[in-house]
Amino acid sequence: MTSQKRKILLVANWKCNPATLPEAQRLFAAIKKTVPRYNNIDVVICPPAVFLSRFSAVGGKLGVQDVFWENTGAYTGAIGSRMARSVGASYAIIGHSERREHMGETNEMVQAKVKAALAAGLRVVLCVGEKSRDGDAAAYAGFVKEEVSVGLRGVTKQSLGNVIIAYEPIWAVGSDEADTPERTLEMALYIRKTIADLYDRTVAQTFPVLYGGSANAGNARAFLRDGGVDGLLVGRASLQAKEFGKIVQIANEF
Ligand code: 13P
Repeated sequence: MTSQKRKILLVANWKCNPATLPEAQRLFAAIKKTVPRYNNIDVVICPPAVFLSRFSAVGGKLGVQDVFWENTGAYTGAIGSRMARSVGASYAIIGHSERREHMGETNEMVQAKVKAALAAGLRVVLCVGEKSRDGDAAAYAGFVKEEVSVGLRGVTKQSLGNVIIAYEPIWAVGSDEADTPERTLEMALYIRKTIADLYDRTVAQTFPVLYGGSANAGNARAFLRDGGVDGLLVGRASLQAKEFGKIVQIANEF
């Protein structure tokens, strides 16, 4: 790793938590207190979309956990990218494995959402990751390659500057078993190689990749030091202000 400070991105994915606005406001306020502003770290909080407008009034970088592929229309329950943007989101998580699993999202749907979010001026955190590491390495690597290739189909090189890929092996999400930094490094390199094949080597070299899946204050340092990633996508640990604050402090070491 170079001695030069690099910009680290920490994205807090609250998922469907907490249950009420007052609880969410307390958590947001506590995180804001424990997350001092460091120049080399971007912290993005992604609360449930219904809370976004309340938080944007308070300040800080915000993201939405999903967007629909149309901005408006007869799509009951959907949230358009422009809506999210207009209430303060500057990032959108797209293609999270939980949406792929529970809401049946396919790579093609993810692709449509990525394009819509980029067109609306959101930065996209595109989530990819294999279901299991059993069997052939070529099979699970191929699975991730397909998610990246289809998810980014039609995204221009210029727009790619607003895309970040979060590598979240599904078996590590919500489990107690994070990946190892060594394996994450391999996958981060593989994802950048896929980007090089789709675009070119120059963009691939600096292309941001995050790790997600049971990331916490105990393993954050190892991932940021040895995992070849530019930051973390944090689930459960982002629901505890103190724990998340520790992760931010650790990120500041890099
Ligand atoms: P956990 O950190 O709770 O495993 O969740 C990871 C995740 O899915 C973040 O998007």
